[in-house]
Amino acid sequence: MDLSYKVSQTAGKHSPLEEEIRKLPIPVSSVFLGKNGKTGPVAFRETDMTLICKDHQRIAEVFPKIISKSRGIVLEAVQADESQKVTGKRVAVLFSGGPAAGGHNVLAGLSVALGGGNTLFGIKRGPKGLMKGDLFEINRENIKSIVNMGGFDFLGTDRTKIKSPEQFEKVRQTVVNNRLDGLVIVGGDDSNTNAAFLAEYFETKGINCSVIGIPKTIDGDMAAGKYLPISFGFDTATKIFSELVGNLNQDAASAVKYYHFVKLMGRTASKITLEVALQTKPAIALISEEIAKKNISLDGIVDYIVRIITKRRMKGLNHGVILVPEGLVEFIPEMRRLIAELNKTLAEYETDISDLPSLENKREFLLPLLSAESAQLMASLPPDLQEMLILDRDDHGNVKVSQIETEKLLIDKIRYRMSEMKRHTDRFFGTGEGKIEATPEQVEDFKKATLSTQSHFLGYEGRSSKPTKFDAAFTFQLGLTAGSLVLAGKTGYMAAITDFHSGGRVLGLPLAGLITVETRKGKEEFVIEKSLVELESPSFKIFAQNRDKWAKEDYFSSPGAIQYWGPTSNQVPIIVALDQGYPDFENFDLGEEKQVVID
Ligand code: FBP
Repeated sequence: MDLSYKVSQTAGKHSPLEEEIRKLPIPVSSVFLGKNGKTGPVAFRETDMTLICKDHQRIAEVFPKIISKSRGIVLEAVQADESQKVTGKRVAVLFSGGPAAGGHNVLAGLSVALGGGNTLFGIKRGPKGLMKGDLFEINRENIKSIVNMGGFDFLGTDRTKIKSPEQFEKVRQTVVNNRLDGLVIVGGDDSNTNAAFLAEYFETKGINCSVIGIPKTIDGDMAAGKYLPISFGFDTATKIFSELVGNLNQDAASAVKYYHFVKLMGRTASKITLEVALQTKPAIALISEEIAKKNISLDGIVDYIVRIITKRRMKGLNHGVILVPEGLVEFIPEMRRLIAELNKTLAEYETDISDLPSLENKREFLLPLLSAESAQLMASLPPDLQEMLILDRDDHGNVKVSQIETEKLLIDKIRYRMSEMKRHTDRFFGTGEGKIEATPEQVEDFKKATLSTQSHFLGYEGRSSKPTKFDAAFTFQLGLTAGSLVLAGKTGYMAAITDFHSGGRVLGLPLAGLITVETRKGKEEFVIEKSLVELESPSFKIFAQNRDKWAKEDYFSSPGAIQYWGPTSNQVPIIVALDQGYPDFENFDLGEEKQVVID
């Protein structure tokens, strides 16, 4: 057989596995099934649940129109009446922010909700494409080729924040020129904030265009408790990371010579790290929210890790896996103070600083304006980290933590601390809180031991995978929900699904009810509140109860690859099951096992 032909035949097309996955049935909540058993849009009823944000008065001044329309009331899907079928609507959709698995199924769900009587448009490259008016009609063939497939490549994405009056005007022109009745924004907290502002703007301008958000981010911080346990993409990303961390656990225990320091994505929340820790049971997992709450300094973190490494060494274990959340630096109290001071100073002297030619000049300008402690800390940081803190913010004002090599910073500090300990073992093994009882032989062994480390960053490899069965179903139904909200003429809502264990409950959440006031780049901004790890949550408590055991001995587990068939193919994230009080992690139930194949 001509093997070269076989390679060229598959180039640029789906792999054999993708072909199978494309045809996998997608479960659909029974509410989406019409009387004839066909999948289609739902109608909505008002519930007795309301979402009222913390700073209600101030938020109400910024979003008066959408708040008075929704009255903060959560909507729930009910079976639609065939006779109320809506047609002739033109709806556009865009991806915003980082990719997350399942985005293409959102488009499939939207397309099915709109059906043949309405038109779905894709906007290329996110908010930028929206302002440019870069739209095209999505047809059934397109949907057929992307359903159950990973990535955001069909539309592309970007992180532009729509903030200036000129930018709003450009969006208005796109909506008017294309006679759009609906705009669906698939994004995280910042993008859904954009959605709320656009919904308010259209209402103010008398433009009849619904704006609906869809909760996307692998970070899992776009969530709303019992109304929305998690955003899409989290399940897939954490399963991929868990497989890789599980493999590193295995490697560490096999080669018995390395500590693998693994930074895991999650710009702010440590939810990914917590989930991966529960899945894989590593020697150490740091949780940023705990570090901030307990006011643990960088030195305190180094102490904690060094103590565990030392105790493991005394048991003959000189290997392990250490998980470090991406957003850690912003939660370490002294770093948090430094970043806050920098943000304030950068905002105050914006033009003076931007006029300075080099990083060195900017640093010299800034240092005297910081408190003595922050200036000292800043000066002690590696130059590339200083550069990140001074220069790099995304369009929404976030520090680009994915580019800060926190794991390497920790490795350097731990190495230094351990080499000091070797010179002064009596000091380390002495009195005080960190006292470790050691025999003379153990002290000798410790002096001889070397600390070999490997650093890893897991993030991008988890964002564009084919979705897990859970994310495939979740996203398809989020698309169905968003399409239905548009057809029902609702605006300023986010599509949400909850009760993953019992058939799925389909909701519309008023976006303004999720918004809070945050300081960004030294200025107050209205943004959707991030959902962080709560130290009182069952998931954190279970982690905290077990971590000492995992630190003392190798208890690690290796969950393996994402499964589309087989024992864990129907798993929900462990943190979701624990925090929502589900009876099990397995067997999620998002509705009927219905064969949704787009053909
Ligand atoms: P979203 O919140 O937009 O989904 O992005 C999350 C994330 O994956 C973070 O975990 C990470 O800090 C960031 O994106 C990296 O973004 P970029 O693609 O700009 O490097």
